[in-house]
Amino acid sequence: MCGIIGINSNKEVTSTILNSLRKLEYRGYDSAGIATLNSGYIQEVKCEGRVDNLEKNIIKNKLLGNLGIGHVRWATHGIPSTLNAHPHSSDNVSVVHNGIIENSTLLKKFLVKKGHKFKSQTDTEVIVHLITEYLKKNNLIDTLTKVLKKLHGSFALGIIFKDEPDLIVGARRGSPLAVGYGPGENYLGSDSYALKSMTNKITYLDDGEFCIIKKTEVSFFNEQGKKINKKILSLTTDEQNYNKGDYKHFMAKEIDEQPLTIKNCINEYIDKKNNEISIFNFPWKIKDISSITLVGCGTAYHSCLIAKYWFEQLTSFDVHIDIASEFRYRKNRFKKETLYVFVSQSGETADTYAALDLCNKNNVKTCSVVNVVESSIARDSKFVLPIHCGPEIGVASTKAFLGQMLVLYLLCLKMGKLNDDIKKKDYISKIKSLLNLSKNIELSLKSENDIQTISNSFTNIKGSMFLGRGYSYPIALEGALKLKELSYIHAEGYPAGEMKHGPLALIEDGMPVVVIAPRDEYYKKTMSNMQEVIARGAKVLLITNKSTDEIFSENIWQKIEVENTEDDLLPFLITIPLQKLAYYTALKKGYDIDKPRNLAKSVTVE
Ligand code: G6P
Repeated sequence: MCGIIGINSNKEVTSTILNSLRKLEYRGYDSAGIATLNSGYIQEVKCEGRVDNLEKNIIKNKLLGNLGIGHVRWATHGIPSTLNAHPHSSDNVSVVHNGIIENSTLLKKFLVKKGHKFKSQTDTEVIVHLITEYLKKNNLIDTLTKVLKKLHGSFALGIIFKDEPDLIVGARRGSPLAVGYGPGENYLGSDSYALKSMTNKITYLDDGEFCIIKKTEVSFFNEQGKKINKKILSLTTDEQNYNKGDYKHFMAKEIDEQPLTIKNCINEYIDKKNNEISIFNFPWKIKDISSITLVGCGTAYHSCLIAKYWFEQLTSFDVHIDIASEFRYRKNRFKKETLYVFVSQSGETADTYAALDLCNKNNVKTCSVVNVVESSIARDSKFVLPIHCGPEIGVASTKAFLGQMLVLYLLCLKMGKLNDDIKKKDYISKIKSLLNLSKNIELSLKSENDIQTISNSFTNIKGSMFLGRGYSYPIALEGALKLKELSYIHAEGYPAGEMKHGPLALIEDGMPVVVIAPRDEYYKKTMSNMQEVIARGAKVLLITNKSTDEIFSENIWQKIEVENTEDDLLPFLITIPLQKLAYYTALKKGYDIDKPRNLAKSVTVE
């Protein structure tokens, strides 16, 4: 949520900052800006909207300098506008900020009394004035230590100073921040993705730390302003994943990549020779675990919901699931014999991180399922299971969802086997089915033309419902979420059996309803619920799997059949047409598919 880039170089930086901001746009895109230090003065150019607008403004108002900071914003305090866009600057200081300053109103009162004039509605501007105020009587390190202590809430900051021609400051509490190292230049970035095209040498700041980035050296400090040493990590370079290739949108590319990402993940975890799942070095004995709590947000939460069905079906562990923003504020009874699993594509979602942090503070067993292995959630959990999907850039999560489901399923099988819940024969048979998953996903992607035609009927609707039972209920939630996110159509996911307890009243003549009913143990029950909505005028799009069983209705409007596989794995296949339905509906409505309105990929505020 919001993106930061900073470059201290011996050459012009504006165009490189612009390029990095383009990469960071997935984190926020309602306004953008850059500030540089040029001939001893801070200069800034800002705009409402996208980085393209910023570039046009920069062409008109040349922005020169060898040192600068840039920002893409996802508004928290103050409407998206040029005035509220970052950087925020005084004559002496310029600041870019991710996060929220919770005591900004109080700090503003104090600063206004001291004669400071505010230009924007943002919480960030208090940081600019606080630094300006403290610099009057303190050196740089003391100013930073004192100002950071005064700020409540979360932040990642990039700061430049009129009187410091060779220095960018970075500071972190709650929101991620990384430093990158280059030849004769060094960088600051809100994630490694922004820095990867410039360097693969990176240091992550930890909470409470700040840094001073000079052209040829970087120093790190703790909360008390004491110098500390930090490790430099080498990142793997997978640049091709950051390009759309021949695709119009990252989302389309990421949907199509799923057979490959699933295959990669299976190769990482399955020892085909021995029919074994390679989850090693698990730091706990299985007999010390009696229950599992799965926590996530958005799509990641939906993968937790599905995992609950698998764990309950295949193992004897008690399973609880929770939305991270609820988990962290409830009075949880932390239990030593519970394994707490945190699922997050980015590994930076603030609520999920806070829930993990709470568990760590209560000294319980924590494990994370992440895509970004360098992320805060991965670094701070006691055991990490990567999903090996490669970068996911489209805001609406697709391949990461399948990756999360896969890793949770593998974890379920492995724990079930270790706990003697799953018989060896069944374990081996399930592993063998997994080896065909990638092929089945590939075949299920072929429903392309049907979905394109069907999506025509979704473009002008008021709303839709997605219904499912068992494994298909979380998939219904995910299908509805995708349609909402991308095409701004009201869509509700519902347990098929719950319709008669209220939502049936929403069904109107001609309303499209998506019924997700693979031929599993719930199929017949869902078919009855489907009849109830058809009887009230709904146009049903049935998503099921290929089978020789007859379909129980003549009155279905449209039908999509994915490949056949064992019941456990059907959620992977029935997700595909739902992703495509959302994609094509949004495409026909002409919306910005990779950057839907009001949303961001990585949500680093509560
Ligand atoms: C945002 C994204 C969703 C994502 C959720 C959780 O809301 O738009 O696509 O599912 O965050 O993100 P995470 O990175 O924790 O999986």
